[in-house]
Amino acid sequence: MATTDRTFADKPTLTGTLVTLRPVEPDDVPVLGRILTDPELRRLTASAHSTAEAESGEEDLTRLQAWYSTRNAQTDRLDLMVVDNASGEVVGEVVLNEWDEASRTCNYRVLIGPAGRDRGLGTEATRLLIDHAFTHLPLHRIDLEVYAFNPRAQRTYEKAGFVVEGRRREALQFDGERVDAVIMGLLRQEWEEARS
Ligand SMILES: CC(C)(COP(=O)(O)OP(=O)(O)OC[C@H]1O[C@@H](n2cnc3c(N)ncnc32)[C@H](O)[C@@H]1OP(=O)(O)O)[C@@H](O)C(=O)NCCC(=O)NCCS
Repeated sequence: MATTDRTFADKPTLTGTLVTLRPVEPDDVPVLGRILTDPELRRLTASAHSTAEAESGEEDLTRLQAWYSTRNAQTDRLDLMVVDNASGEVVGEVVLNEWDEASRTCNYRVLIGPAGRDRGLGTEATRLLIDHAFTHLPLHRIDLEVYAFNPRAQRTYEKAGFVVEGRRREALQFDGERVDAVIMGLLRQEWEEARS
């Protein structure tokens, strides 16, 4: 049976075979700035609504500095860097946010930059964080959304146990085309059953 011996204020380092998840460090900001300008990532995370916008994105390092320098002080969310164990470089981030204490639910999101993709890192990072979440935090359920034009992300979430629950039809517009948002969820009981 899982314990709930930590809170969202705790910022652990979680070590896997391919990746290590760790709290934000000051030197991460320029690396994240480069990752967040990747056009494919900007399209798949709906940070842009057209190819032109995705390709012209520039990140404001001052704004990113302000954001990332305050992540470790947050008590209602968990933001961890994804480090590629092969290179020692930060390649992305994983986040548990939108913590609802009354319902014991939160949201999950992940992003991996071009240097880290398609080598199993996103899958392991997701599993590490979800295992931490249900082992140590008082969560009943984790939510997420993934756009229908992102089957790689949907597959990654399904491998971690998330189940498709529905769709927000035509929720996004990209290059003038309408795209559904797929709603996925993972319950504590399902996570426990998958481990037993
Ligand atoms: C989505 C993301 C986290 C996945 O991480 P990753 O390290 O690239 O992916 P992995 O190598 O761990 O696994 C990808 C899985 O999807 C599968 N896959 C890849 N492309 C696919 C496609 N077009 N259709 C279906 N499955 C696909 C792979 O085969 C693999 O599954 P398998 O292990 O069963 O073979 C990462 O690619 C990413 O951050 N992309 C950009 C931003 C993004 O999409 N974020 C998520 C927003 S919801």
